[in-house]
Amino acid sequence: MTKFPPVFKGDYAIIHGGDYNPEQWLKEKDTIWKRDMELAKGASINSLSVGIFSWALIEREEGVFDFSWLDETMDMLAENDIKAILATPSGARPPWLAEKYPEVLRVDNNRQKMLYAGRHNHCLSSPVYREKVRIINTKLAERYKNHPALAMWHVSNEYGGECHCEICQKRFREWLRERYLTIDKLNDAWWGAFWSHVYTSFEQISSPTTPSWLGENEQHGLKLAWRRFVSDQHCNFVDNEIAPLRAITPDIPVTINMMDLFPTINYFEMAKRLDRASWDNYPQWTGSEADYSVALRPAFNHELQRSLKDGKPFLMMESSPSVVNWQSSNSLREPGTVMLQGLQAVAFGSDSVQYFQFRKGRGGCEKFHGAIVGHEGSENTRVYKEVAETGRALQKLSEVAGTGIKADTALLFDWENNWALSDAKFGKQDKRYEETVMRSYEALKRLGVQVDIVDETKSLDKYKVVIGDMAYMLRGDYAARVKRFVENGGTYIGTYVTGYVNDEDLCFLGGFPGPLSEMFGIWAEEIDILPQGAECFIDYHGKDYKTLDWCEVIHAKGADVIGKYADASTRFYRDTPALTMNRYGEGTAYYIAARMPVEFLIDFYRDALVIAGVETEDMPEGVMRSVRSNGENEYLFLMNFYPKDSEIELHGDYTDLLTGKHEAGKTTLKSRQAMCLKKN
Ligand code: GLA
Ligand code: ZN
Repeated sequence: MTKFPPVFKGDYAIIHGGDYNPEQWLKEKDTIWKRDMELAKGASINSLSVGIFSWALIEREEGVFDFSWLDETMDMLAENDIKAILATPSGARPPWLAEKYPEVLRVDNNRQKMLYAGRHNHCLSSPVYREKVRIINTKLAERYKNHPALAMWHVSNEYGGECHCEICQKRFREWLRERYLTIDKLNDAWWGAFWSHVYTSFEQISSPTTPSWLGENEQHGLKLAWRRFVSDQHCNFVDNEIAPLRAITPDIPVTINMMDLFPTINYFEMAKRLDRASWDNYPQWTGSEADYSVALRPAFNHELQRSLKDGKPFLMMESSPSVVNWQSSNSLREPGTVMLQGLQAVAFGSDSVQYFQFRKGRGGCEKFHGAIVGHEGSENTRVYKEVAETGRALQKLSEVAGTGIKADTALLFDWENNWALSDAKFGKQDKRYEETVMRSYEALKRLGVQVDIVDETKSLDKYKVVIGDMAYMLRGDYAARVKRFVENGGTYIGTYVTGYVNDEDLCFLGGFPGPLSEMFGIWAEEIDILPQGAECFIDYHGKDYKTLDWCEVIHAKGADVIGKYADASTRFYRDTPALTMNRYGEGTAYYIAARMPVEFLIDFYRDALVIAGVETEDMPEGVMRSVRSNGENEYLFLMNFYPKDSEIELHGDYTDLLTGKHEAGKTTLKSRQAMCLKKN
């Protein structure tokens, strides 16, 4: 593995910064702006994200542009050696724009037109909005293309949502025409004879509604097409935003701040437009042992963000240095959380630790959201001190910037599969796809395994093991590539509800798991969602593991049965296969027929990984590990999310980059401590 280029040209440092809104303090430039720079430096801040919601401050009237405050901001940042991540302002629009061109406002899925309000509510198709965005982005790029502070583009802010206006309906129909060519093909793909849904023209189709009684909401083909369309609309909106930036500033990297597993955009597709992935991380820390579970979600998302760009370091664009004002409880974080949260991001491949927000505003709905600088305004706060301490720590980790993560194991999370599964009706229960993938992820982390996150389009070739939970929809050539992967010696672990439907959400005929039946050497005949009071167990290596709610009834068709539904199971299929292994080509395909708790997954994955030649190391409770490397140096990150100390055995000789101390053998991780150990 070689070193990746630095995020900011020529600058191998970990980015430390956050969202900065000097435009909220135009009347206090001499005092607040000045103080901001002192405070930023005192916290080792080397980058600030500016301009994010500043449209009205730049174009107060249509076509009348005033960049003076932004010029001053950019100059001030340059003078203070702080890089600007400059945003395009499309995340929120000025009132005049909505007043003059109501088409820019979104229509909700209940077909109600929204009023001018809030942010993030523009129509994705509106030609006027796209044009206005193109103009202002062009002006920004022209103006700052040679500015020494400009280091990166932050395109809009947290894209999301959908619009059901007439322009969007028209675009949707065009999109359908491009995909299906003829209405008959669409009818076939959507199984039109069901409930008499045989369309005779594309004009008869419109987007699904909420509430469901208002319009179409049961047509799975339509719903899936709509989700794909909405995601595509975001992507081509982004293309429109980025085009002038690429043309005018080809050397300035582009990113977009994403949000967790946000449902309306397939981030694997979105990331193709970007030079770097980035995301906003807002875990709800508790201060208790539950923080280990809390930490799994950001860990997963960090690994996803890294994987979106095939291993390139990403940015943690936002995180709160203290409270978050929109979560269920506005709890303070225990001392040390800022550092732990920041180093966790770096551990899993981030080259940045950034916050929302640098300074709290005096008004608006985020005035009590956490910030580096509070209303009191000095460096004397606990939060500021913790941020400053984190900044100093990151300086000691500069050499980690640009290193990657080598993972032999990939875990599947596929947006389109998630869409299809969430519509699929196996009764009313949630299918729990995300939760299930997260459970596999937890097992892998508890086994200390390095992991990439892939979707069904990513190459599997570099992995030894691929885990594909609930791959209900096998789309594109995924099934063929999985087979090739196993034939060539890979290990694939699949589960219940794999291979039920194709790209169009049409069920495979001839038995599940459809095109993967031969590879798994099984037939999955029925799926049982356990009734109240029923219990099933899988007997694996002489131990009974209780299943969770979903159990498939399967038959071995060539596969070896390595686990059966145990005698203690209350269902009729006790003593039938529940866990199988099939040699296929040079490789192995395992099938787990039931949703299983993490204790089982840890034991089973450990065995399967070791057989496949992947190293595992059971982690002490509450502790996560991650290794960044560049072929030359190796950096072991250890993080303790428990509120008590933990002991861990090191295999090798290390230098702690934060303390300079030599470490080998047993070492103690204090409560909420993160270490970065360089291998000697
Ligand atoms: C998001 C937004 C920010 C801010 C924070 C608050 O991530 O991008 O503008 O609203 O949430 O947590
Ligand atoms: Zn619209």
